[in-house]
Amino acid sequence: MTDLVQLTSDNGIAVITINNPPVNALSPGVPEGISEALDRIAHDDALKATVLIGGGRTFVAGADIKEFGKMTSGKTRGAGLLPLLLKIEDSAKPVIVAIHGTAFGGGMELAMAGHYRVAAATAQFGQPEVKLGLIPGAAGTQRLPRLAGVMKAVEMCVSGNPVNAEEALKLGIVNRIVEGDLLAGAIAFALEVAGKPAPKTRERDEKLGNATENALIFSAARETTAKKQRGLLAPVRAIDAVEAATKMPFEDGCKAEQKLFIGCLFSEQSKSLIHVFFSEREVAKIPDIPRQTNVIPIHSAAVVGAGTMGGGIAMALANAGIPVVLKETDQAVLDRGIATIRSNYANSVKRGRFSPQVAEERLKRITPTLTYDDFSDVDLVIEAVFEGMALKKEVFKDLDRVSKPGAILASNTSTLNIDEIASATSRPDSVIGTHFFSPANVMRLVEIVRGKASSKEVVATCMQLAKTLGKVGVLVGNCRGFVGNRMFGPYRREAQFLVEEGAGVEAVDQALSDFGMAMGPLATGDLAGLDVGWRIRKEYRHLEVPGVRQPFVEDRLCELGRYGQKTGAGWYKYDDQRRAAPDPAVGELIRKWVDEAGIGQREISPTEITDRCLYALVNEGARILEEGFALRACDIDIIYINGYGFPAHRGGPMWYADTVGLKRVYDRISEFHRQHGEIWQPAPLLKQLAEQGKTFAEFGREQGATA
Ligand code: NAI
Repeated sequence: MTDLVQLTSDNGIAVITINNPPVNALSPGVPEGISEALDRIAHDDALKATVLIGGGRTFVAGADIKEFGKMTSGKTRGAGLLPLLLKIEDSAKPVIVAIHGTAFGGGMELAMAGHYRVAAATAQFGQPEVKLGLIPGAAGTQRLPRLAGVMKAVEMCVSGNPVNAEEALKLGIVNRIVEGDLLAGAIAFALEVAGKPAPKTRERDEKLGNATENALIFSAARETTAKKQRGLLAPVRAIDAVEAATKMPFEDGCKAEQKLFIGCLFSEQSKSLIHVFFSEREVAKIPDIPRQTNVIPIHSAAVVGAGTMGGGIAMALANAGIPVVLKETDQAVLDRGIATIRSNYANSVKRGRFSPQVAEERLKRITPTLTYDDFSDVDLVIEAVFEGMALKKEVFKDLDRVSKPGAILASNTSTLNIDEIASATSRPDSVIGTHFFSPANVMRLVEIVRGKASSKEVVATCMQLAKTLGKVGVLVGNCRGFVGNRMFGPYRREAQFLVEEGAGVEAVDQALSDFGMAMGPLATGDLAGLDVGWRIRKEYRHLEVPGVRQPFVEDRLCELGRYGQKTGAGWYKYDDQRRAAPDPAVGELIRKWVDEAGIGQREISPTEITDRCLYALVNEGARILEEGFALRACDIDIIYINGYGFPAHRGGPMWYADTVGLKRVYDRISEFHRQHGEIWQPAPLLKQLAEQGKTFAEFGREQGATA
């Protein structure tokens, strides 16, 4: 027996305990250990039944994700596990699987091979493979419909979301919930069923439904998946696999599942999603800030400005249990800000996200104010007033005066220089940028902007704060637009150029949405408000380089009062529900303006649209990386996936470029450079890596990244 699995006995019941901390992953050695224990139990007449349980804090929480990357065909996890699962099921003595913590992925598949399952009330069950671009590969799609029914099996395998013990009991996944000691409860259950014929999950067919009903379930699932998980391979394959369970004998169903699983395992999508999984962990590591760096406890906070962002940030803090003072300059504006927060909470209650009591508790954590009186105690202040250097400096001077020593003073600025803001205080080491994304209570990304004086403690605390708020913090340097918006500039520039050169507004958005972006770049502009960029451009006009082409159509639209959704018209027109429709008038205006400007219009392919927009992102990303404003390429990927609607299954812009091949990307950018001039100058790092035949990921590893 391996030391990962122990066999003991209690009252004539064998107990197999899996001990592979931290999560009892099914690493090599675990299946072998269970198999060996089963052999011993079979030959021991004193043992009447078996309990299979996890040691430590959980049952088997899944496969070792690192293993997926290493798998080669023929030696997959599923293929390795399947014989063990049959052996458990064929065991003459009943096997009772006792579950606490989580039975996810391979753990769920293992549990389903038992004859019975008992669970702690807090246990969770799920097949989350789809989140890594995979499907269950050890008969999960075959046994789950036999236990929980076809509809629920489809739902669980397609969404990857878990069910709790109570629901699992209702569904028939679990036979009993054990209150108190799980092992004792499992042994008691084992004593009840010992000696009786044990049901094999694979032989059960009472929940497999009939052909007519199933056809409706599968077609409805395919339709929803096409809409909600657009472009994703794994959810579709999961449906195919469950369908196989309803149409074929178990053994054939397993073979079908295996084929579909391997197809997913070798897909670019799965590799990308696994990259995203590891990258999210990687971004928390900051090379010059050790893990044991002191983190300042945040017991209370204040937010300055109760507008769009301030209100959302106050909610994010309150949602995480942090009391927050919310300051405005004017009673009417403050009232409006609080009313918006109240209605956001009411909407969440209406949608069933949480109870009215929870909403009330959260709301109570937010104290509106017009003064700085309550600022002297708070551990953290986040400023979210209008975007303007003079005003920000004014506010930070006040904060320096009213805040206690050691309090973190953070700005939510999206474009301004953090060092200049910090210079308004006597404690620049306490000043940092926390750049939330709109709506701040929903969007996961926070760019943590490190100023030249920001202390390591302050950086570590803000990274931790992002986690506390249920968000992902990514450390970025202090350059204009930081990382996300700096890259978004060239991306949206190209979208507008393409329109000016003859691509339709809808064609541009469609091409990028077909690529997988949550929204096209022009529709995104309408959502955020075209006037925002217009105002910034007007402010920085004196910095424009003479003779360099600038997009101009968006400014013209703004001059006509077409600011986007908020004015009912922008690139598109909008009804009262803010539903977009193409506006032929815009098409005509563009043609006229472009004619006057002497820009020739031509036919533009979807490939040119995606190449120009996405490679503009990549080229700027490479510059940012080279200049050190992002730590690693994967930091940029996480920013784009969580803040800009970049499809996770493409792995982020830099990973996407790696998958295309940097040589190809470089060649195409060089072609654009020849056609469109200096704005397409290839980034030196991109050129270097292309010539060396390397990827951004390899470059990151050379610099010390581990993802
Ligand atoms: P907003 O215009 O909705 O809100 C700003 C609020 O600050 C207003 O309610 C104003 O009355 C208040 N205010 C001004 N001076 C104040 C003072 N001295 N004390 C207290 N309150 C004061 O603006 P929004 O969109 O919320 O932007 C705030 C900041 O967040 C800006 O720096 C912006 O660049 C940044 N940001 C905005 C994003 C967005 O999508 N709107 C995204 C990320 C960052």
